Amino acid sequence: MGYSYIGETLQLYSQDPSVFFANKQKRYGDIFKTHILGYPCVMLASPEAARFVLVTYAHLFKPTYPKSKERLIGPSALFFHQGNYHSRLRKLVQSSLSPEALRKIVDDIDALAISSLESWAENNQTINTFRVMKKFSFEVGILAIFGQLDAKYKKELNKNYSIVEKGYNSFPTNLPGTAYYKAMVARRKLSEILREIICERKEKRTVEKDLLIHLLNFKDVKGKTLTEDQIADNVIGVLFAAQDTTASALTWILKYLYDDQKLLEAVKVILESLRMSSIISFTFREAVVDVEYNGYLIPKGWKVMPLFRNIHHNPEFFADPRNFDASRFEVAPKPNTYMPFGNGAHACPGNELAKLEMMILIHHLVTKFSHALITAGGKSKIPKEQYSTAHSQYLGMDSHLGSGRKREAKQIPRKRDAS
Ligand code: HEM
Repeated sequence: MGYSYIGETLQLYSQDPSVFFANKQKRYGDIFKTHILGYPCVMLASPEAARFVLVTYAHLFKPTYPKSKERLIGPSALFFHQGNYHSRLRKLVQSSLSPEALRKIVDDIDALAISSLESWAENNQTINTFRVMKKFSFEVGILAIFGQLDAKYKKELNKNYSIVEKGYNSFPTNLPGTAYYKAMVARRKLSEILREIICERKEKRTVEKDLLIHLLNFKDVKGKTLTEDQIADNVIGVLFAAQDTTASALTWILKYLYDDQKLLEAVKVILESLRMSSIISFTFREAVVDVEYNGYLIPKGWKVMPLFRNIHHNPEFFADPRNFDASRFEVAPKPNTYMPFGNGAHACPGNELAKLEMMILIHHLVTKFSHALITAGGKSKIPKEQYSTAHSQYLGMDSHLGSGRKREAKQIPRKRDAS
């Protein structure tokens, strides 16, 4: 459990997280305890244990995030909840992001992918892959939530959302001038912008069926609609869940593609990239009662962490796990061993959209562009900040794993000549 109060937080934050968890697993087996970020935690590195927490006994483990982060995203966002409110909203979000619903925006995503690639290739400039992928996934998120949206709103949303993001991993204090304070101000501004958009939508009575319209038309069994705050929290929540995750996955896919130029089977590449990178390395729940699992007691109030990354990197389930091998997906993985989008009640409702936008972008990239990847030599490198950004977003940990050592993976896409 480490030192009192700080537990093993410093060890976790000063090492590659994969090494921290893998060493623990080697020493203590698939289920072990630790103390991080001020809380006692039980870590679970077996598919069965992850299923126990996320699926079979999901009602005994509630989602858990620091309050400061809940305030910033919006406390009514679906991923902070369990029970009726969660399952009703989840159905709504899932149906707005179903393949059927996404069909309507395929052409728009396609046009966005082409114009993004064209702009990155302009003037042989050097770009930061993760940063431009974030811009791309933000725009796709906007399309899925609002359909077509006025450029002035997009600009304002983008500007304020970036300030919120900066404050998300900062020390949560409400003193004017601090990143957290600025983020809370920007978050209120986001609500105002959304209120304006909603007002306009109501006046126009649009027939579009995007996520915003679903949220506006939502009625519970008693006929009660969602408040504007509930709508705003869920719009920001979905945007937040959609952006860094997809941008991280795309950045890793590019790295793997250009490490091995033969890997052009887009779908399998994507699956193997999601396994290798395990964007969401683990998730957190909190035991709502004392729970016994396999002879272990998980005390009420303890955090429980299913470790997706360890499961994805266990040679028992994925032979030679550190080797990028897209062909391993020619055979379906064993049940509950492949969970890049989670599992159970809170599994990612955006997974179809994420796969769609990744496939479209990669398709245009490999068919229309050639690449030169600038590296420090040898294989392409991903900056360490990449290890943590996306999962830290979900989990409320900050991304200090990479700070101070930031390096940029730089891509120069060049348009292929017609031949
Ligand atoms: C490669 C990209 C993505 C990855 C790897 C990913 C991964 C995940 C994972 C692992 C979870 C479960 C977290 C948990 O159990 O605590 C999750 C939840 C969620 N994701 Fe994604 N995600 C991605 C893209 C997206 C996109 C594009 C959207 C929306 C447009 C989205 C929306 C959500 C939402 C709303 C939840 C919360 C669901 C709930 O609590 O019921 N994600 N995601």
